[in-house]
Amino acid sequence: MTKKYVHGYDSRESVRLIDQATTLAEILHSDSIYPAGCNVLEAGCGVGAQTVILARSNPKALFTSIDISDESLCAARKRISDEGFTNVSFSKGDIFNLPYPDEVFDHVFVCFVLEHVQNPIDALTCLRRVLKRGGTITVIEGDHGSAYFHPDSEAARRAIRCQIDLQARVGGNSLIGRQLYPLLKKAEYNNISVSPRMVYVDSSKPELIEGFTKNTFIAMIEGIKNQAISTAIINEPDFDKGINDLYRTTKEDGTFIYTFFRGRALK
Ligand SMILES: C[S@@+](CC[C@H](N)C(=O)[O-])C[C@H]1O[C@@H](n2cnc3c(N)ncnc32)[C@H](O)[C@@H]1O
Repeated sequence: MTKKYVHGYDSRESVRLIDQATTLAEILHSDSIYPAGCNVLEAGCGVGAQTVILARSNPKALFTSIDISDESLCAARKRISDEGFTNVSFSKGDIFNLPYPDEVFDHVFVCFVLEHVQNPIDALTCLRRVLKRGGTITVIEGDHGSAYFHPDSEAARRAIRCQIDLQARVGGNSLIGRQLYPLLKKAEYNNISVSPRMVYVDSSKPELIEGFTKNTFIAMIEGIKNQAISTAIINEPDFDKGINDLYRTTKEDGTFIYTFFRGRALK
């Protein structure tokens, strides 16, 4: 398991996770469709940002959404109850010690979690145990090495590198998107397919500038400023220049590109 969760659990991070999920719903979830009556385990549900989307587009499927954080589960329960969904039950649970017998779930869904664990193959193997034969696992992850932009900036790339390095120091891997196929293969899943989902943002897409470039991506990098400076991997002026240059990509003549990876496989 990860030593420490790099993004933390504060309210700004909760808002960022909601912005990320809402903005990317179409890109990431257009095919998150489950048959009526099936039982789906959502592992590492966080504050319920993806849960709401899954529950809405699959009103007849039953979701069991688990997380190790009581605080996140509390926020997720409130969000689902405020939206009036009745097809989700929440429990505290650790992916590495799942409180379920073998082969009870028809499908498993896991989004933006493997990047934070020290051994993603073990996580996938633990999830495989509770999945029925013939059931699917869906894994969605980003890859910070896939971020490029105009105007290009060495300082912006250095600020992003700080996030990659800090996450690696606590046992995570923010370059994991590119590894989904081999990870699923090593965890002995079958019929694996990985689909890259590119987000392309220019000034004709103000909703993506706000919801993705600023409120998801730049907010994430800004969120590690104190850790990056206190661990002396960068100095404050250099970090601030990187952030300024990232904001520069949101202007009239700027562009920002990032790729998520969505893996799907069978047990
Ligand atoms: C970046 S958040 C993603 C939350 C949600 N899936 C989303 O996409 O918005 C990662 C979540 O994984 C949870 N997590 C990390 N390790 C876990 C584990 N071993 N078992 C269950 N949840 C875990 C964290 O508590 C956190 O809520």
